[in-house]
Amino acid sequence: MPAGKSIMLFGAGQIGAMIARLIGSDYSVICFADNFEGKWGSTLAGIPVRSPEEGLSLHPDAVCLCVLDEERASQMEAQLRELCYDGTVLRPTALRTFDARAATMRLLAEQIREEAIPGDVAELGVFRGEFAAMINAAFPERTIRLFDTFAGFPERDVAIESEQGLSRAKTGDFSDTEVELVRRRLPLPEKAAFYKGYFPDTFPADEALRFAFVSIDADLYAPTAAALPLFWERLSPGGVLLIHDVNSTQFSGAGKAVREFCRKQGLLPMPVCDLHGSVVLRRPLRE
Ligand SMILES: C[S@@+](CC[C@H](N)C(=O)[O-])C[C@H]1O[C@@H](n2cnc3c(N)ncnc32)[C@H](O)[C@@H]1O
Repeated sequence: MPAGKSIMLFGAGQIGAMIARLIGSDYSVICFADNFEGKWGSTLAGIPVRSPEEGLSLHPDAVCLCVLDEERASQMEAQLRELCYDGTVLRPTALRTFDARAATMRLLAEQIREEAIPGDVAELGVFRGEFAAMINAAFPERTIRLFDTFAGFPERDVAIESEQGLSRAKTGDFSDTEVELVRRRLPLPEKAAFYKGYFPDTFPADEALRFAFVSIDADLYAPTAAALPLFWERLSPGGVLLIHDVNSTQFSGAGKAVREFCRKQGLLPMPVCDLHGSVVLRRPLRE
């Protein structure tokens, strides 16, 4: 395909911002389009946001629908056709299938094994165990420690979210789960230890515990801010924290907690190009 074909990104939200970063040299992005008038005239990731009509007047060779929901994508495609657009329409649904965060975790697992970095693995924020099952499979020889209320967001953390305007989280969101459901989902359930309850109250007192890999995916400010120093202290040299939702527009507390922790520790988080903006924090082999 010749380089430099023009593309318009339809949907100026979090997914759109990450897709703008993922576009390779086949296309150059000319603008975002969005149906929300309040965004017109602004910029996202340094790219101007226009109305769909104004964007199409630039005659893009292709339009990428920056949503992952198929039904919404079909509505947006119909809208483009009504506006007489007959060019290429791209649907980034493959991004659901190809998960950059999972790939990063698996590459880290290979490296941690090769370098013989000692310690268990863990996840804070397990919900129904989707990512926990992937971690369990990638680290088959290690104990996996799983922390969650298994009853959804706790009231006291949600209160902080609304007081500080961090998200619209509600008490009990993500409550549709239970330990046994997660256990059944794990490929190696005999390697799992469950810590059900409010984090950080459930963090083990055993000072000898060490971690090689920890996923922090609690969405909210309070548990993320509590988890970072606790797990960081227990990371083996070369051990990794992988924190989800750091660029989330829906949940801004995880990013706030990471920025505060990094400032205090003098660390720079390494970005991961998944759609929610995860980051990696790693302990050096020698300090
Ligand atoms: C986005 S979900 C986790 C998603 C999960 N990693 C997956 O793969 O689907 C966030 C989880 O964090 C948990 N959580 C949030 N705050 C918590 C706290 N203070 N203590 C324990 N769990 C908490 C919620 O119960 C919820 O299950």
